[in-house]
Amino acid sequence: MLDSGYWMLEFSSRIHYLASSIVVTRSAMNLKIYLKLRQKKIDRALDRYLPQESVKPTTIHKAMRYSLFAGGKRLRPILCLAAAEAAGGKIDNALPFACALECIHTYSLVHDDLPSMDNDDLRRGRPTCHKVFGDGIAVLAGDALLTIAFEIVSRAKPTRRYDMSILLREVAVAAGSRRLIAGQVADLEAEGHQTDREQLRYIHENKTAAILTTSVRLGAMSANANPKQLDAITKFGRTLGLAFQVIDDILDVTQTSEKLGKSAGKDVTAKKATYPAVIGLNKSRAEARRLTRQAHNSLSIFDGKAEALHTLANYLLEREY
Ligand code: IPE
Ligand code: IPE
Ligand code: MG
Ligand code: MG
Ligand code: MG
Repeated sequence: MLDSGYWMLEFSSRIHYLASSIVVTRSAMNLKIYLKLRQKKIDRALDRYLPQESVKPTTIHKAMRYSLFAGGKRLRPILCLAAAEAAGGKIDNALPFACALECIHTYSLVHDDLPSMDNDDLRRGRPTCHKVFGDGIAVLAGDALLTIAFEIVSRAKPTRRYDMSILLREVAVAAGSRRLIAGQVADLEAEGHQTDREQLRYIHENKTAAILTTSVRLGAMSANANPKQLDAITKFGRTLGLAFQVIDDILDVTQTSEKLGKSAGKDVTAKKATYPAVIGLNKSRAEARRLTRQAHNSLSIFDGKAEALHTLANYLLEREY
């Protein structure tokens, strides 16, 4: 059941949207409301797409839901919906893509935390999936979250320019062994080794920026974006995605586990290839700012419809660090 406060928020944000024909992200207050509304929309849709916990075998559905509904920021789906709006589309058409990408992201976190990978105990403010369900079920929950992403994409409405085979390939390539997995492989192989900037960029562009880029690209595709719009959105996603991982590296050094909801300081202990380790904290901050500026610049072909994307880029940069 939705409470009346929620409807008031949704109603007032709708009015604001219609009146100004720009998205509801004018101030910090509006941003907070905007993020909350979008998170709720995404969570409701994810709840519809995921099998209930009572569905057999119940352990796997409990584990999938445990990690998925642990309170992630939902940045990739929110960016996906905002990209759809930037390209002149409706957010409901982008919703299956937004949810599919969040499932893939969550799977990547469940596996990333495994003892044989980053060996983390805390994620999204809770014990990690393998801590609660055991390694075997956590591996399978990750597998199942990745697989259901394709089932969810298959429910999306293709457009004139982007048929279902294009949409499915977009997801498969981004999540596959040349992109997300490539980055994770390179991340593991770089542990404890001297890493140059080129290799560091390769790791971050693949393990993080690939899925973030695909999130905004699929949003744009759901709006039947023209090639020029898709190109601009792609550049935005690549630079913002890279900035996002640079900031994640910085936060690991500067924040507490409590604040992050995941164990801080682990990158140094694990001798990970990170921006602070390779170029230092100050240069990392400057790099995050430079990349975010580039991300803003790539949106210059859009009018006010890209305001949410601009605001989200600023928000990611200004997370406390
Ligand atoms: C964490 O991503 C993993 C990275 C790619 C840096 P987020 O910071 O978006 O994590 P959640 O989804 O909010 O938990
Ligand atoms: C994770 O990078 C990127 C993924 C594909 C999951 P990290 O290993 O830095 O992410 P956190 O810090 O554990 O969230
Ligand atoms: Mg990792
Ligand atoms: Mg990790
Ligand atoms: Mg990290």
